Amino acid sequence: MKLSIFEILLFCLLFFNGLHHCLAIKRYRFELKEEKHTKLCNTKNILIVNGQFPGPTIHVHKGETIIVDVINSGNYNVTIHWHGVAMERNPWGDGPEYITQCPIPPGGKFSQKVIFTVEDGTLWWHAHSNWTRATVYGAIIVHPKHGTNYPFPKPHAEVPIILGEWWKMDIQTLYYSFLQKGGDPNVSDAYLINGHPGDSYPCSKRDMFNLRVDQGKTYLLRIINSVTQNIMFFGVANHNLTVVGSDGSYTKPFTSDYVTISPGQTIDVLLEANQNPNQYYMAAKAYERTPNVPFPRNITTGIIHYNGKYDTKNTTPLPNLPVHNDTDASVSFTNSLKSLASKDHPVNVPLDITTELFYTLSINTFPCEIGNTCEGPGNTRLAATVNNVTFENPTVDLLEAYYHMINGQFQTNFPNNPPLKFNYTAPNLPSEFRSSERGTKVKVLEYNSTVELVFQGTNILGGGDHPMHLHGYSFYVVGSGLGNFNKEKDPLNYNLVDPPYQNTIAVPYNGWTAIRFRADNPGVWFMHCHLDRHASWGMEMAFIVKNGKTPESHMLPPPPDMPRC
Ligand code: C2O
Ligand code: CU
Repeated sequence: MKLSIFEILLFCLLFFNGLHHCLAIKRYRFELKEEKHTKLCNTKNILIVNGQFPGPTIHVHKGETIIVDVINSGNYNVTIHWHGVAMERNPWGDGPEYITQCPIPPGGKFSQKVIFTVEDGTLWWHAHSNWTRATVYGAIIVHPKHGTNYPFPKPHAEVPIILGEWWKMDIQTLYYSFLQKGGDPNVSDAYLINGHPGDSYPCSKRDMFNLRVDQGKTYLLRIINSVTQNIMFFGVANHNLTVVGSDGSYTKPFTSDYVTISPGQTIDVLLEANQNPNQYYMAAKAYERTPNVPFPRNITTGIIHYNGKYDTKNTTPLPNLPVHNDTDASVSFTNSLKSLASKDHPVNVPLDITTELFYTLSINTFPCEIGNTCEGPGNTRLAATVNNVTFENPTVDLLEAYYHMINGQFQTNFPNNPPLKFNYTAPNLPSEFRSSERGTKVKVLEYNSTVELVFQGTNILGGGDHPMHLHGYSFYVVGSGLGNFNKEKDPLNYNLVDPPYQNTIAVPYNGWTAIRFRADNPGVWFMHCHLDRHASWGMEMAFIVKNGKTPESHMLPPPPDMPRC
């Protein structure tokens, strides 16, 4: 369809609060297409944006709005999500398939309005349709508002460090065989730094990310974990990292020799090039605590290459990262995150809570279909739950069903508490606890309600760490611990002064995490574990946040080009 200038102007007036606003809006074009790519001497077609892998970086200043024209020239359905962007009043452009939109079919197009408000720092975008995000992702950099600066000395340069993965297998085949078999998915063949595996893999000596630095200068590394199934450790040999931000929000600076980063999270660090000119490795590897869960045991490397003259054959040893099952190392990094809480970057933690929620996170099983064999324990099909509900996608997206009051697509009885209370983190929990209920249940929140949500990991089937991600909001992480949450004692130790402001938080292995947020963004907002196998097994749910009383607290109207189911 070709639009005339007149139609474009009319469209602007209607949907972008006037012409001025419309003409000033920056537009990105994202064309998705399958293209041949080679890694580890393995050539295959992967779905990518604008021919780039990782995809293009979006640059905005705090508070700006952009439009991204997403064009699907690939062979299967896809959607794009702006991870960590609150999308105030505009769930229509958020992107999760069957939650806020129907997928964009091959040959289709959807112009998504991405509204930045409080975000300040690093976020990212990724596909949100089955496992297409394995290759469809990129950085979002939110620079300080025009005329303002970082709350730390201006770095000499800024570098996105995106952790990703490479499968020799085709992603669609991987996904469908995983679903069909009912067990754990095949693990990836390599981890990547900015699309490069590095020199620890066969046939990959030269395919390594290389960052050139000048001695004495400081670099801002914007680390993004786009890995699909693992929390990661990252570090740089001989260099400390000073953490200054996470999930698009500034933190109190602290220094560490490694970073723990969950899928979905971003961690901004300052790297001071304060060593003798040489080549130093950066590296990332998986943190995995659950016994018997397969995961890639390999390590991806990159190089920090000092400018100057020296013998380049003397690259230093790899950074010393924690061992793969070191929960203390994982948790102690995450617990060190604190909001900056300064005059220019204040915190606003809800203190009077109107809505208390307690959600268990479990791995479960369903019986295998008669006549079939399944790879789950004892011929079962693995599943996962929030409060013992395995989420199932509706056939029309939830937002559409809610907005147009289409019956029969979802139920509003998502439980506030787990249906069964037990010692959640006890060893050897009985196998009866493994069964769950399938459903498309949502939790309805009144506008402006203040929510405290405690996530409790359970030890059913060996437990796990769960990086929980909420769309439409960032939340304050007020507390976390190992074992069972104690409703009397644990709240006494909450941090209500400078808790970190996250959109994704790893609930520790057999532990709990408490978050708080004010439900002031009306819409339908997905919440799920950001380990893709857990999400695909059903560790997902959605909130519906009602409109407020004033027109400014209502959802915006749907754009005219919403894809149809
Ligand atoms: Cu990073 Cu629901 O997604
Ligand atoms: Cu999980």
